[in-house]
Parts: sequence; structure tokens; C-alpha cells
Amino acid sequence: MTITESLSKEHSLILQAVACLSNAKDKLERYERPPKEFFEMALEFAGSFADKYHHFKEEFLMFGLLAQKKEGTLDGPISALRFEHERCREFVNKIANSLEGYTGGDEIATVTLLENLAAYISILKRHIYTEDHVFFNMVDQVLSENETNALELQFQKEEEKMGGRDFFNTSEKLVFEMCFLLGKR
Ligand SMILES: [Fe+2]
Ligand SMILES: [Fe+2]
Repeated sequence: MTITESLSKEHSLILQAVACLSNAKDKLERYERPPKEFFEMALEFAGSFADKYHHFKEEFLMFGLLAQKKEGTLDGPISALRFEHERCREFVNKIANSLEGYTGGDEIATVTLLENLAAYISILKRHIYTEDHVFFNMVDQVLSENETNALELQFQKEEEKMGGRDFFNTSEKLVFEMCFLLGKR
């Protein structure tokens, strides 16, 4: 599997989580109240797998190398993708901050949760679409075999730091459990 294929595979898991979050958003719009535990699991997944594991590899390893490689010509698209990662982190923090109020039935906290959830889902879906359909094709064309191999080694190191295959399996289980918890309601 190439590095962009492995990132796209991670996107598939992120999109499964996003589909459940979208279901939770629809419920909130109908005044249903998904359990606090669902959002806690979603925040765990968003913080660990989507951001610390996946976004880190893209942003700090791949974008860094690409920026040097194309001598600034890719600065525009890379800045946009970095900005979207950053916005996603902000939405996740705001969701986390609204959770206590939401659990207590506070209407303003509920609307704040809904607002940031909707934004997170929308920006992340667009972001993943861009990477899968535009950006990764470009990465495949631009990087030499040596650069790809070097990046692959760096990715492996980062993956091992997080627990490697076990971490991926645990994250898959987490998504399954959060979706199951939502489905039961
Ligand atoms: Fe990304
Ligand atoms: Fe990505």
C-alpha cells in the first residue's frame, strides 16, 4: 500500500465516524438527545485517531516535505489544508467545552454543540474529499521514489509511537462502539 493509499484508508474510518456524527446532528435537530457517552467517544476518536495520528502525519511530515519540494508553488493548497486541520481542532475543543452544559440540559450549550458539530462534519468531509480526489494524486506525481520511501519510514515511526496496528484496531472498535451506542437510541 502506498502512503497516500494508507492515508485514504484512514479516511474511510474517519468518514464512518463522521457518518455517525451526522446521524447525531440530525437527532439534535429533532430535539433528540444522543447520550453524553457517544460524544465522549467521538471526542476521543477525533482527538487521537483523526488529529494526533492522521492529521499529524499529513501536516508535519507530508506537507512539510511537499512545501520544500515545490519551492513555494504548493503553499496555497497546503495552507488551506492546514487551516482546515486547525479549524477541526477548534470545533472539537468547542464541542468538548459544551458537553457538560449539554448533559445538564442547557439549551445554549446544546445549540453550541450542534453548531460546532455541523461545522466539524462539513469542513472535514470537504477536506477529505479534497485530499482523496485532488491533493493525493498530486502528491503521488510530485514525490520521487526516494522521498516516498523516506516519508513511509517516518510514517511508520509515528504509527509505532501511537501503538501501530493495535492503535488502528482499537480506533476501529471505538467507531463501531460509538455508532452502536447511537443506534440503540
Ligand atoms: Fe488532512
Ligand atoms: Fe487526511
